[in-house]
Amino acid sequence: MDGTTPTLSRCVNLVLLGPPGAGKGTQARLLQERFGLMQLSTGDLLRSAVAAGTPAGQAAKSVMESGGLVPDAVVIAILRDRLAADDCAAGVIFDGFPRTIAQAEALDAMMAGQGRQITAAVSLEVDDAAMVARVSGRFTCTACGEGYHDSFKRPGTPGRCDVCGGAEFARRADDTPKTVTARLAAYHAETAPLIAYYARRGTLECVDAMAPITTVSETLTAVVARTLA
Ligand code: AP5
Repeated sequence: MDGTTPTLSRCVNLVLLGPPGAGKGTQARLLQERFGLMQLSTGDLLRSAVAAGTPAGQAAKSVMESGGLVPDAVVIAILRDRLAADDCAAGVIFDGFPRTIAQAEALDAMMAGQGRQITAAVSLEVDDAAMVARVSGRFTCTACGEGYHDSFKRPGTPGRCDVCGGAEFARRADDTPKTVTARLAAYHAETAPLIAYYARRGTLECVDAMAPITTVSETLTAVVARTLA
């Protein structure tokens, strides 16, 4: 956040839905910078748990490597703990959660328990065929986590992170074409039904996420502004 960050007049809690590579992480980070909302990525939380070797991480590791979904109870417990932290009070962008109807119902109950609600659920709409290339070309700065892509978003200075100047980058173990295909299948079988779930609640927004990153970002900024109107 900097001096130009707009102050939100009420709490915004945004769900980003979309298959692997749709741009959930990219857009969540941009919204976090622009509005001071907290990005909660269950993928990141689970990867931290795997790295730390916690019981949740041990339960998640092989499932994540296969491209399937981690059991609801494991993910909901991790998310619940993180959501209770003070830095989530001003508003949250849920990146990769919920992913099943059971997770969506648990999230509604958690939010209601805190006197909050989901203000909008955004479906980032993409062509599956393009997602394998998007995901397998992705890499991140190991120091600050900024995301890049071999074709679509390279560092301004080759080998140097634009944000922190770091020189080390990493690729995710599950970003192989085979695992991405399994993750896409899991999305369509278990997560896509959430589009109808949020449409029934009147909170669904659909965004063309095949557009350039900056265009998608402008559209999402307008969505946040609209939910505040
Ligand atoms: P997670 O980490 O959430 O991965 P994912 O959903 O597969 O999503 P990705 O991170 O791959 O993609 P993204 O949409 O964030 O795209 P990004 O912005 O990086 O989950 C990993 C695993 O954890 C799951 O498979 C599952 O096992 C487990 N898990 C996590 N949450 C769970 C849950 N709730 N329940 C159960 N299991 C769970 O963009 C990708 C690339 O494309 C980047 O290089 C970016 O620069 C580029 N890009 C982005 N937007 C554009 C654009 N508009 N044009 C061109 N390039 C773009």
